[in-house]
Amino acid sequence: MPEKIVTNHDLTRLVETSDEWIRTRTGICRRHVVTGENLTSLCVEASKKALKASGISPLDLDMIIVATLTPDEPLPNASSAVQKELGAVNAFCFDLSAACSGFVYAMGCAAMYIKGGAARYVLVIGGEVLSKITNWADRSTCILFGDGAGAAVFGVSDEPGFLGMSMGTDGQRGYTLKMFEREMDNPFMTEEQRRAANMEEGPEGTLIPKSRYVSMDGSEVFKFAVKKVPESIHQVLEAQHMTVEDVDHFVLHQANYRIIESVAKRLKAPMDKFIITIDEYGNTSAASVPLALDELMASGKVKKGETIMISGFGGGLTWGSILMRMV
Ligand code: COA
Repeated sequence: MPEKIVTNHDLTRLVETSDEWIRTRTGICRRHVVTGENLTSLCVEASKKALKASGISPLDLDMIIVATLTPDEPLPNASSAVQKELGAVNAFCFDLSAACSGFVYAMGCAAMYIKGGAARYVLVIGGEVLSKITNWADRSTCILFGDGAGAAVFGVSDEPGFLGMSMGTDGQRGYTLKMFEREMDNPFMTEEQRRAANMEEGPEGTLIPKSRYVSMDGSEVFKFAVKKVPESIHQVLEAQHMTVEDVDHFVLHQANYRIIESVAKRLKAPMDKFIITIDEYGNTSAASVPLALDELMASGKVKKGETIMISGFGGGLTWGSILMRMV
């Protein structure tokens, strides 16, 4: 995590909000925000810890995936920058963009490469510097997000640790969460084409430049999450002939405490099976699942043979769940 901690109280100096509103609507108390760090440095720190915990040398890695929507630069990609810092010269590297589902999708990729025999050890990282795409004057979004990174090493094992997965995407509702990056511009475009590519409708029919900050329809995201996450969890369990009672721990993307509570209620699962980090970190997009997984592992609650259901959801709209067994 970045060193700098920003409390809800700190945000009241930027926008009209209150600690009470943020806590009751989201469960967030504080978040970390980069000041001296960047995406690569956060990912490298997390990766070093994951490698140490797994006893794997950087040279044993066959593949590195960084799930992020906020790389330091589009070129070189974040995973190549991490490979350089780790000296993991035997790994091929790519970034994966699936917003808050990114880490879960990257885990699915790692599992399939390992199952297919194309890789033995894969470093999967979820990292975000959302503070650079946050509009700090917009109280409906700036209170939600935080920066951070988490990493895990996946590898071949004699016992199956990966039990199953279910992924889905609804591109039709993609603009529920959106951000524009660079302008479309080249010497061959007409003014009209430039306008069509770079402007959107603003208030009262005006044309305004597309926003370079994240914007969203919060209540639509909320409704989507509480419907799709339980569905995908049931899909994974049904394929394994298992039920919700067979899951020992739930690690969900941390977007809002109330979303996790609603999912638990729909699944009829007790809240003490759900790991909560949203209070400390806010919504860190692709980093939230590995950070929550790390917290669960550090708690010492997970015993050999127990099952962990991991779910991500967010921009795209994307969602996905993976069921693991502790080996
Ligand atoms: N402080 C104080 N008031 C705020 C506020 C803030 N930071 N942000 C919004 N409000 C106001 C709104 O202007 C609105 O006022 P109005 O009724 O006078 O118009 C009121 O609070 C209620 O806003 P609303 O958006 O309906 O609140 P909500 O209960 O739906 O909570 C979210 C908003 C964003 C917290 C919630 O919808 C959410 O968490 N959605 C999921 C978003 C998400 O996780 N996105 C990331 C992708 S995974």
